Amino acid sequence: MNKIEIALLGLGNVGKGVWHIFQNNKEEITRRSGYDIEITKILVNDISKERGIDIPVGVLTTDIEEILSNDNIKIVVELLGGVHPAKDYMLSAIENSKHVVTANKQVIALEGTELLDAARKNGVLLYYEGSVAGGIPILKGIEESLTANKIQEIVGIVNGTTNYILTKMSLENMDFDVALKQAQDKGFAEADPTSDVEAYDAVYKLAILTSLSFGINVDVKDIYREGISNISSLDIKYAKEFGYTIKLLAIAKENNGSLELRVHPTMIPIAHPLANVNDSFNAILIKGNAVGDLMFYGQGAGSLPTGSAVVSDIISILRNDMTLRSISTVENKAASKLILNQQAYKSQYYLRFSVKDMSGVLGEISSIWGKNNVSISSIIQKDEKQGIVTLIIVTHDAIEGDINKSVAEIEHLDSVYNIDNLIRVEKLN
Ligand code: HSE
Repeated sequence: MNKIEIALLGLGNVGKGVWHIFQNNKEEITRRSGYDIEITKILVNDISKERGIDIPVGVLTTDIEEILSNDNIKIVVELLGGVHPAKDYMLSAIENSKHVVTANKQVIALEGTELLDAARKNGVLLYYEGSVAGGIPILKGIEESLTANKIQEIVGIVNGTTNYILTKMSLENMDFDVALKQAQDKGFAEADPTSDVEAYDAVYKLAILTSLSFGINVDVKDIYREGISNISSLDIKYAKEFGYTIKLLAIAKENNGSLELRVHPTMIPIAHPLANVNDSFNAILIKGNAVGDLMFYGQGAGSLPTGSAVVSDIISILRNDMTLRSISTVENKAASKLILNQQAYKSQYYLRFSVKDMSGVLGEISSIWGKNNVSISSIIQKDEKQGIVTLIIVTHDAIEGDINKSVAEIEHLDSVYNIDNLIRVEKLN
């Protein structure tokens, strides 16, 4: 049996998962890869830190050069997260003719084109299955099993932390902060939870999914982004009254030759399969023009699920699977020209207003909607506080520009105290 040496950069949550998988599934991994794989070096910050796992003496190092200059190490597994120094180490590994595996969505979404070009030039592979939806084999699904299709639509719950928070708020009436703290304790929230809560993490993942599915280089700045920090327990309660639940969705949709790329909290029908994806689970719906609708579901974060994706990438490389998964083998189209402006989105909208408790308010508001081509599907009125009425409106399909125009006019009415929230509603076929 040929022996092969690999190195890990980082021994955090995912690094430990990779270590455990090699310990526990040694026989399967050896049989499937055709190699006796040994992790001979692991880059850490502090060798003496207690990690609760038994690593042989000499494996841990604080010196990246011990890895980069070691010709016996054939695969470098980057598990540091963030852009620097991860990108620099990956580039050096590639230039030293080492294959690279990473689970780092940020570096792939922001620097993937350069890294993949470098890999191609140096005749090595760069795989990143763990970067999107942890253990779910979504990138290999798109790259290998769906290549016969034109992909028409991707709708996904791709961030476990926000899905956990929304689930707990919705099913257990938990406060936002308590749910976030639990997500952090369980180890799937990012070090800086802003990345989860404000949806940067989901944007990175959507950029990667879009590049592979639609064959364009996506600049993350072209993806509309809205996090979940504005979602209140009131919105969750009213959503239920209309038959909806709120999920943070990442959406890439082909629309008459344009592409809608957006990540935002979305109301979806309670009976839809995505509405029942709870806790930290992820799910991705893909529509291909030949295969129809597919749904991928599973654990999108965590030590062993993400470790599973990382180890399978290592095995794919050793099987000499020469599919060069590559953001930049896509046609180098100027993606930004294809991306539909937010003002042109079409969907239903939920709006919550606080208005004065007086006659004629509804009439004033309705006439503004009518003037701007927005038709109302449902309306609920709540008299929850003395003198203040909460109006909750769900529109029929409308153009976002028309909604924004209406909201700007409604905001200026004397009878309106505040527009408390606006959330898009997707019927999802
Ligand atoms: N913070 C991410 C999440 C981890 O909550 O989904 C996986 O990328």
